[in-house]
Amino acid sequence: MEKLKMQTPDRTQENIERIAQLFPNVITEIEDGATKDTKGHEKKRYKKAIDFDLLRQQLSGVLVEDDNERYRLDWPGKKASLLKANTPVDKTLRPCREESVNFDTTENLYIEGDNFEVLKILQESYLGKIKMIYIDPPYNTGNDFIYKDDFKKSKEEYEEELGVEDEDGGKLFRNTDSNGRFHSDWLSMMYERLVVARDLLRDDGVIFISIDDNEVHNLRKICDEVFGEENFIDPIIWKKRYGGGAKEKYLVALHEYVLVYTKNISSLNELFIPLKDDAIDRYYKNKDEHFGVKGPYRTHPLEAMKSFDVRENLKFPIKAPNGDLVYPKRQWRWGEERVENALQRNEIEFSKDNQGNWILSSKQYLNDESGEMRKTKPFSIIDDIYTQHGTNEFVGIFNDAKIFDFPKPSKFLYKLIQIGLNSEKDAIILDFFSGSATTAHAVMQLNADASTSSATGEVGNRKFIMVQLPEQTDPSSEAYKAGYKTIADIGKERIRRAGKKILEELATKSTKKHGKKEDDNQENLFSEAETENFRDLSCLSWQKNLDIGFRVYKVDSSNTKDIFYHPTELQQTALAGLISNIKEDRTPEDLLTQVLLDLGLELSLPIEKKILRPGSGTNGNTVFIVQTNALVACFDNDINFKIMDEIADLQPLKVVFKDASFKDDKDRINVEERFKRLSPETRITVL
Ligand SMILES: C[S@@+](CC[C@H](N)C(=O)[O-])C[C@H]1O[C@@H](n2cnc3c(N)ncnc32)[C@H](O)[C@@H]1O
Repeated sequence: MEKLKMQTPDRTQENIERIAQLFPNVITEIEDGATKDTKGHEKKRYKKAIDFDLLRQQLSGVLVEDDNERYRLDWPGKKASLLKANTPVDKTLRPCREESVNFDTTENLYIEGDNFEVLKILQESYLGKIKMIYIDPPYNTGNDFIYKDDFKKSKEEYEEELGVEDEDGGKLFRNTDSNGRFHSDWLSMMYERLVVARDLLRDDGVIFISIDDNEVHNLRKICDEVFGEENFIDPIIWKKRYGGGAKEKYLVALHEYVLVYTKNISSLNELFIPLKDDAIDRYYKNKDEHFGVKGPYRTHPLEAMKSFDVRENLKFPIKAPNGDLVYPKRQWRWGEERVENALQRNEIEFSKDNQGNWILSSKQYLNDESGEMRKTKPFSIIDDIYTQHGTNEFVGIFNDAKIFDFPKPSKFLYKLIQIGLNSEKDAIILDFFSGSATTAHAVMQLNADASTSSATGEVGNRKFIMVQLPEQTDPSSEAYKAGYKTIADIGKERIRRAGKKILEELATKSTKKHGKKEDDNQENLFSEAETENFRDLSCLSWQKNLDIGFRVYKVDSSNTKDIFYHPTELQQTALAGLISNIKEDRTPEDLLTQVLLDLGLELSLPIEKKILRPGSGTNGNTVFIVQTNALVACFDNDINFKIMDEIADLQPLKVVFKDASFKDDKDRINVEERFKRLSPETRITVL
């Protein structure tokens, strides 16, 4: 029963809650008087409060100084990383068709670059659209984490220099534990990425972060800050190896963690995962007619266990098929009415033990009345998939385990995705420390498995976004010798190979299941030529729907020349028509990509490239039509103005041209007038 408060609401706390929705990381706690516990000891009370310095930092474009004590995890560089998280980057993505697979049709993305920049670049297009993020960042073990040198370094510290530069010529360093900022650098690196990544999550989105004991305590604290303590779901303990560790001095660590947070716990539904195949085989051995559907079922004793409290109303007799009245030894689990209903629906199994006594069991069906398979709750311990599985799998794909150290097993990711997606078949999964792209592999496998279990051949349509630094492989490494100059090269090749393998397996399974007409009277799904010729996999109807492609994009400087970021200069130079504001090496596809990102359109949208000609014999213009009429863009310098009418006929929501395509203001007004007349809803933008 709710108690009347008899006072007006506490507006301050309400306002704090509102601010917490926007900036969970600025919430701290302060003392709020004291109470006495049951033994009369004084106990301090705490309440939520705003960390105004952090809030000021959230709202400021410069570094805010402060030195107050409060409850929070602090480290040198924390506010600077928040400032960085809120500052725009003038980078963009450039498509790379040559390295992509099925560029025109795929909805998956592989993005090469520093993940902080990529997360910033994706802010508009993927704001609140990602259902699941999985990351497996460097665990900060002493040599697994590299970072840019943003600080002045002493001579000794330069020894940590890798001799590697990023794409801007900035030096990259390895974070060794001789570095005085060992934990701080790692925390700043994680903090700024998590702050930006949170914005990409859907309200019911979930983030899974792999980590081990080196930083789990610190990671938990910064995640509590970034996502809000109340949005923490649980840690998953992953038992990653069976034993060994004879060389360990004290304890043999067999496990690591996956921290699970959501964006907004009140938007997240209960989590369920499908039953595992071996559990189905083991328990659902019997089959019968259930609401007209033949259904596998498992049984549970109807006799109550000893631990149940004695209840007289559960001691009634039940009539067996031969008319015997069966009494419980102690009592039944169900009441009379429930048993009666179950009997009518044939949901109680009667069998006899060796002495000929009746044994009654309730039936639990695998599928519900609509054919949907029963689900189960995921456990917080994963102990049936090991690191070794990931290594073996990698050998299977590359014939060489030494190309990438300790890839996660794709089955592990498969399981996490099942938990995170809650049977959604059409969601975006982002991994921004993608390494060998295990996550992409698991997404494709899950999509393929949906098809084999369904008689209609329906495939899952979960989409992945992989982000990976083009971190150079060591010239003396096996990977380098095998031709993989960067980890991104390994990741892309992994997806190509894994995709092909999944298609092949699917084709084999499909023929086994449907290929032989005479076996089960089923219609042959594939023609003989198709089943014969599995080399041409794309011709098979189910497989065609399975997306094993990916569009490759690479981070680069903005397409526009720096000078054009100053509006005064933009006007003078552009109006004079002296030079183009676009860098000379940029292609129309580059420009289109930046336009998609600036306008907040997803990079996976279908793009049609067309040459439009106003009449025969006239020069045409290349136009890009994005998702029917979401956007039409033309980046040619000489646009034939008759083409404007054709573009307007498409009734696009947005059109984009280059500023340099217009000779003068008269041209611009002309175009605006035409669109006002022919397609008044269209928003016109120039680059
Ligand atoms: C532990 S591995 C991930 C392994 C992956 N889960 C797998 O199964 O293969 C971490 C990866 O993050 C990459 N990485 C580190 N810093 C990065 C950054 N700033 N941006 C993008 N990738 C980064 C590293 O190159 C490395 O491949």
